[in-house]
Amino acid sequence: MAGAFGRVGGEVLVGEAGLVAEPASLVIFGITGDLSRKKLVPAIYDLANTGQLPPDFDLVGFARDGSNLEDRLRESVIAHARTPFDPLVWKSLMTRLHVVEGSFAETTAFERLAAVLADLDCRSGKPGNYVFYLSVPPSVFATVCDQIAATGLNRPVRGWRRVVVEKPFGNDLPSSRALGAALEQVFSPDSIYRIDHYLGKETVQNILAMRFANGMFEPLWNNRHIDHVQITMAENVGVTGRAGYYDGVGAARDVIQNHLLQLLALIAMEEPVTFDAEGIAAEKVKILSATELLGPLEHTSARGQYGPGVDGGLPVPGLTDEIGFPPDSTTETFAALTVGITTRRWAGVPFYIRTGKRLARRTTEIAVTFTPPSHGSAAARVAGFSNVLVFRVQPDDGIELHIGAKRPGGGMNIQPVSLGMDFRSVFDHPAPEAYERLICDVLRGDATLFPRQDEVECSWRIIDPLLEHWAEHGRPDVYVAGSAGPASADRVLAQAGRAWRSL
Ligand code: BG6
Repeated sequence: MAGAFGRVGGEVLVGEAGLVAEPASLVIFGITGDLSRKKLVPAIYDLANTGQLPPDFDLVGFARDGSNLEDRLRESVIAHARTPFDPLVWKSLMTRLHVVEGSFAETTAFERLAAVLADLDCRSGKPGNYVFYLSVPPSVFATVCDQIAATGLNRPVRGWRRVVVEKPFGNDLPSSRALGAALEQVFSPDSIYRIDHYLGKETVQNILAMRFANGMFEPLWNNRHIDHVQITMAENVGVTGRAGYYDGVGAARDVIQNHLLQLLALIAMEEPVTFDAEGIAAEKVKILSATELLGPLEHTSARGQYGPGVDGGLPVPGLTDEIGFPPDSTTETFAALTVGITTRRWAGVPFYIRTGKRLARRTTEIAVTFTPPSHGSAAARVAGFSNVLVFRVQPDDGIELHIGAKRPGGGMNIQPVSLGMDFRSVFDHPAPEAYERLICDVLRGDATLFPRQDEVECSWRIIDPLLEHWAEHGRPDVYVAGSAGPASADRVLAQAGRAWRSL
């Protein structure tokens, strides 16, 4: 869609302005893993290619088997980087790649790591700034942290130490607390960066810009004018090859506890006093603390598991036929729930959240539906029409506003039309990938786009009762792969006289 709103100029500064990336060594534990090959190393390459890495940057890969690492990473970068492959940039980045081979249980491997890092500092006169990126399963977080502590790598004599952890941040509230405490025994709270890559997406950052840089939304942003909000994250991919992580985890833990509740927080929070890490986290925590499941859960939530079906015209197996999933797996690949927020602004406004794998198409969006006009004007002749403001996170990131307009010709016939803004066509320079932005922010020491431990705990508190409810209520409903999910999800909204936006 063309930029019908056009570019209006002006900037909202989100994050800690003025921070610069200092010379540092970035250690990736699990550099040969999936996440590292598909996201982290390509993002580091993109940062190198766009001149955003700090001077004297070094990348240290910790891996059990570091053979042919350079060739393996090169293939990944060619396949997954955002910017074109430039052999000179790659060559220069590879002069900065260092490998430490060993297992996480091996103390001597960590001693070798410490020696490599000290040597790199010596060679370039770096002040001992280290980022430890734990691109490893949560089951080994504690081991890696203990080893880092045992070698003293967490205690800088000079410079700073930061640690980056990937979700899942626990499995429920108690385990998340335990994980947070274990990390904080080794690293100070302000040096822990929890990655929620949705916060690195441009459209997600634009939610705050839209809400707080524009005066027109605030007067309407409340229960007098908003009927309900729908947050959808639909994927057409399944979980092929991910049984080790996904079985027993499921859709609610995988993306609702983190990505989708973060979206909700950004949509619903009050304007922060300052647009920095502390200011934004404080408001997110307040709103998440006031958020609760609306029940009764058997009517206000739904869960499903994909059965066989079709994706892109090709047959695909159901979850229980995917390699690694037991035939009686109760893992949900679809989840829908209803939450409310007990604040003066939001009381009475339902927030419907849904996500699913192997759905009809890939789309992530937040749709804010306004209350229809209450009087008998021309607008009322459009049956069921409401203004909707849609934040399209992906694909085709942008914003659209559905309004009623008069159809040309005789009579006053109102028809819903859409005003749209497509970020790619409005702004000339391409948006960075989420991981580029987030890795850059870690190197700059800007924690604005990283959820704090208390936000994580609030989110578990919200969904834990639903997980318990599901654990006691048998199997998820099976839906056809390539569909819009189980019929039980439609009933969640139908009972309130509403419907999900079509996928
Ligand atoms: C991850 C989930 O956090 O996000 C995956 O673990 C999901 O299951 C992925 O597929 C989606 O990310 P994106 O950026 O492709 O929407």
